Amino acid sequence: MTRLSVNINKIATLRNARGGNLPDVELFARDCEAYGAEGITVHPRPDERHIRRTDVYALKSLVQTEFNIEGNPEPEFIDLVLNVKPHQVTLVPDAREQLTSNHGWDTRAHQAKLATIIQRFKNAGIRVSVFVDPDPVMVEYAARAGSDRVELYTGPYAEMYDNDPQRAIEYYRSAAEKARDLGLGLNAGHDLNLRNLPDFIKAFPWVDEVSIGHALIADALYLGIQETIKQYKYALSNSN
Ligand code: PXP
Repeated sequence: MTRLSVNINKIATLRNARGGNLPDVELFARDCEAYGAEGITVHPRPDERHIRRTDVYALKSLVQTEFNIEGNPEPEFIDLVLNVKPHQVTLVPDAREQLTSNHGWDTRAHQAKLATIIQRFKNAGIRVSVFVDPDPVMVEYAARAGSDRVELYTGPYAEMYDNDPQRAIEYYRSAAEKARDLGLGLNAGHDLNLRNLPDFIKAFPWVDEVSIGHALIADALYLGIQETIKQYKYALSNSN
């Protein structure tokens, strides 16, 4: 069964807009778990515009399911992750000023650098996932660098899906199969939503985990977070 990790960055963005503690990020994470989320994801950025370092430390002792920290492995990020020791770290090559991640690693060009960083995290007992575009060569070099998993960047999937769902699936097939054939774990994330998620999981039922933030939080404005998580989990269970 594919697991649902809820990315709670947007909750921190809303909180930060007013300076107080509303909504309460920690309470929200706990409630997501109580409503069935199987993981909590955060993406701390150097400017702390949404999740802050203090949130990451607080969440570590709260999260009962799987804690996933994603981000660009600059020295500050590496120290944070090694101190917090989440279950999983997802390495993302996003620039400091980038609005949101919009591409995966060139794992071939950065193989040596990634291998060193991955080893440090693995030595600390943290599972490592590397964010990649749906390219089997990038998947292969992530494996060569020692990664445990890859996370396929599904932004292009979501964009293609609206016009041509079958083409969107085929665009991801060789990368998803490569991960499976190499024995790598497979995660997916970015722009997944209740409409496009079921077909992705039906096509690639070996996806271990999806991490979803933006659409899920937007859905919660209408449905409430409890019902929203229920619907995403239904979408996953009905597709596997
Ligand atoms: N995976 C990664 C690596 C991300 O950077 C993000 C966005 O922070 C997501 C998944 C979740 O994407 P979305 O918010 O579009 O669901």
